[in-house]
Amino acid sequence: AEQNRELRERLMELKKERNAIILAHYYQRDEIQEVADFRGDSFLLAQKAAQTDAEVIVFCGVHFMGESAKILAPNKTVLIPDERAGCPMADMVNVDGLRKLKAKHPNAKVVTYINSSAEIKAETDICCTSSNAVKVIQSVDSDEIIWVPDKNLGHYVQQHTDKKLIIWEGYCNTHDMLTVKDVVEMKAKYPHAEFVVHPECRPEVVEMGDFVGSTTAILEYCKNSTTKEFIVGTEDGTGYQLRLDSPDKSFHFATKFLVCPNMKVNNLKKLVKALETMKPQIYVPPVVAEKARISLERMLQVK
Ligand code: 13P
Ligand code: SF4
Repeated sequence: AEQNRELRERLMELKKERNAIILAHYYQRDEIQEVADFRGDSFLLAQKAAQTDAEVIVFCGVHFMGESAKILAPNKTVLIPDERAGCPMADMVNVDGLRKLKAKHPNAKVVTYINSSAEIKAETDICCTSSNAVKVIQSVDSDEIIWVPDKNLGHYVQQHTDKKLIIWEGYCNTHDMLTVKDVVEMKAKYPHAEFVVHPECRPEVVEMGDFVGSTTAILEYCKNSTTKEFIVGTEDGTGYQLRLDSPDKSFHFATKFLVCPNMKVNNLKKLVKALETMKPQIYVPPVVAEKARISLERMLQVK
């Protein structure tokens, strides 16, 4: 506790010195969410990165999020606490494979989940996040959509649109871990609880949800619901904001495996060190960034 207090003090000094802003995803460790200027889901944090006047953005999340920040704010320095915080789902699609799929479906538009590399975004018509996926799909002027890389979110979105989705076979290792059996057991244990679930989970698990939504949608739902007890089907880090919003409610995570190890690679110590050393910095080659920016900016413009 004493060490964390010193680290927090040092962080406050450094933030002023460097004119920095700290953005943290809801899946980060509590010690990071506590010191963030903004906590958010991937959509809100991309918006904040695009809008900030700060010179330095420290992005506490996984690599593709830092990359998106750099693409949207090319003149800012974007730091991440640890370069090794990747997203396995983002790595499940490669440029060659996507180009082949585009060649096979020349009339389709490519909608890419923000959980993807800059190179993939550069091959994309428009990006989306889990909070705006259906809206983005509806905004595209084509009835045929190539959807990368999350098959679970793709399956969910397909149920909410008449367009035909051609779905890539990627998935989130963390959300995909949750099974029907886990949820059945939890519902038996907490019969009065509502089950809230992220659409990155398997279709048969999502189907069991009393409420289905992105990280932000789940937070809003739990905050405003009259229910006092929830079984939570998304990453464990959301517990920080859930409990902050509703100290009088109970939140039971559906399994102990709903922890993204990549998100947890970051910690307060590494965050302070990044601002101290101004490393590691995100770099995106300008030719890639120029193209990727179009797909991200289109997403930010969808109303
Ligand atoms: P959201 O922040 O859009 O809910 O995405 C979830 C996720 O897995 C981020 O890595
Ligand atoms: Fe990737 Fe899933 Fe971790 Fe999000 S929670 S960073 S999608 S592995």
